[in-house]
This record gives sequence, C-alpha cells and structure tokens, in this order.
Amino acid sequence: MTSIRRRSFAVTALALACGALPLAAAAQAAWPSKSITLVVPFSAGGPTDVVARVLGAAMTKTLGQPIVIENKTGAGGTIAAAYTARATPDGYTFLIHHNGMATAPALYRKLAYKPLNDFEYVTQVVDVPMTLVGRKDLPAKDFKELQAYLKAQGNKVNLAHAGLGAVSHLCGMLLRQATGVEMTTVPFQGTAPAMNALVAGQVDLLCDQTTSTTPFIKAGSIKLYGVTTPTRIKALPEAPTLDEQGLKGFQVVVWHGIYAPKGTPKEAIDRFGAAVRTALQDPAVATRLAELGAQPASEDKLSPEGLRQWLAQETQRYDPVIKAAAQFAD
Ligand code: MLT
Repeated sequence: MTSIRRRSFAVTALALACGALPLAAAAQAAWPSKSITLVVPFSAGGPTDVVARVLGAAMTKTLGQPIVIENKTGAGGTIAAAYTARATPDGYTFLIHHNGMATAPALYRKLAYKPLNDFEYVTQVVDVPMTLVGRKDLPAKDFKELQAYLKAQGNKVNLAHAGLGAVSHLCGMLLRQATGVEMTTVPFQGTAPAMNALVAGQVDLLCDQTTSTTPFIKAGSIKLYGVTTPTRIKALPEAPTLDEQGLKGFQVVVWHGIYAPKGTPKEAIDRFGAAVRTALQDPAVATRLAELGAQPASEDKLSPEGLRQWLAQETQRYDPVIKAAAQFAD
C-alpha cells in the first residue's frame, strides 16, 4: 500500500471507529456518484420528452450529476415501463410516464409489468391539457364544421397517435366514441413524429398535449379545434374547449409521474423526488412550463404515496371508460 492510500484508509477507519461515519451513511452520501438515466417512453421532442428535459436540466444543478434522457419508444409506452421495471434498482434509473400507466392494464391483454406493484413511486410532476389539432389546410374552420366534415369523410380522415396506451390514442379513441365517427388511425413512436406528419399535411388530425402543440398553434402551422379541459386555459386563452363546442363532458387531462424499479434505495427516491419539487419551484422552469400549458401537480400528489394512490384511483376510473370505448381502440 502506498503511503497516501495507507493514510486515507487510516482516516476512514478512525472515522468509522469513532462512529463519525457509519457505513450506511457513507454509502447514502455517495448518491448520486454518476449520471442518472430518466427513461422517456416516447420520441425526443414530444411532450413527455419536453417535460423531462426542462426538469432534467434544473435537477442536474440540484443533484450535481447529469440527468441523461433515454428515449425508449414503442408499444404506447409499455416498452419503457417494462424496461424500467426490470432495471437494476440502484438509484440510477427512473421513468417518467403519464396516464398510460393507468390505462395499459385495460388496453393490453398481456402486460410485462404490474403498474401498481413493480415500481417505487417517486412523485407526480405536472398536469397538461390536450388540444385537438388538424393540418393547416383542413377545410373545417372550427369544431362544428369539423364534425360535419368527419361525418362526410369518415374513414378517409387520418387520425395520428402514439400507439395503444399513449394519451393521443386515448384522446382519439374517446373522440371517435363521442362523435360516433370512425377514422383511420395512424400510429407513430411518439407525437413528435406525428406532429411532423401533421405539419407536412400527411395526416389530418392529432390530439396532443399543449406542451407539444402550443408553439405550432402560435406559429399558425396547424389548426386548433379545441382544448380538452372543462374550462379555457391560460396558455391558449382564445382556444374554445371541446365541451363548450358541444362535446359535453369531454375531458382528458394528462398527468405525469416518476417511477423507479422496485427496491431502489429510499435515499435515491426521496432525493430525486425533492429535486423534482425544487425544479418545479425554479422560476425559469415554472415560466417555461406555464407557457406550454403545464401546471405543477397539486401538493398532495407531489410524494410517493400521492402518486401511488392517484395511479390506483386512475386505473380503476379508466377500466370501464376503456371497455365502453373498446370498439374504437384499434
Ligand atoms: C409523447 O411524448 O410523444 C406523447 O406523450 C405520446 C402520447 O400521446 O402519449
């Protein structure tokens, strides 16, 4: 042993002997000692990715280690959730996911994970309204005209979405059920590529979160038909709700939560959750999220138990909703 290594070993041994540095505390204090992966179940540039990157940049400052975003796309978010459930529970893999955690059990006959058992629950993050948007040159100028157009065109209309389990799919399914109009659905790996296709005029309609659609609506590159909240929203004050345009009770609000593999150390869960809460209070983060229509989750949901209880409640709520709309689930 070199003299330097011998000296540092002696100092640590002395600290441990004196009870100044218990082993468990020494191990905990080390987290995070390397970059942390935040798995995003959909494409880069889409709404889930936007929230992850805005938060991740702020959390990197708090935690002192980079938050690396890993886009693991496919099967409406279920591939990323299954991957996270099986990941090593060492405090270096987390998942951000939305309502898809609650809807997947009703949508998939075989799911490779149990949303209410196979994870540690960290915290909820933000709630985001959705918007029904169309390609710029769609002839219908408002939702009333759109309904008439849909009735006339039916299956000729292409509705883009991000796969079975995505909220764009859920919103589209509920829209088809509410209007009674069948459409041809076109799946993508996330709503970022779906939005590209919409802007390019390759698909007709998309129901997507304001965190994705707001800049395109403001730039005039797509047409807005309505928001999916019961009342109008601050980020798009001129936008009518679908409810006020006759689709009574039509409501889809997207909530996001953070999960970790079961068995992840509590220290990592607590500190990651605290870093999310700190990020949400950062004025620059709060302003950016508000511009995009995202609102921090209510205080009672910003905790492991708050997320778990909400997930259980939403899973129960969606089961009959999805069964009732099953004929529109393709
Ligand atoms: C995304 O991030 O691409 C969307 O959240 C996908 C979806 O519609 O659920």
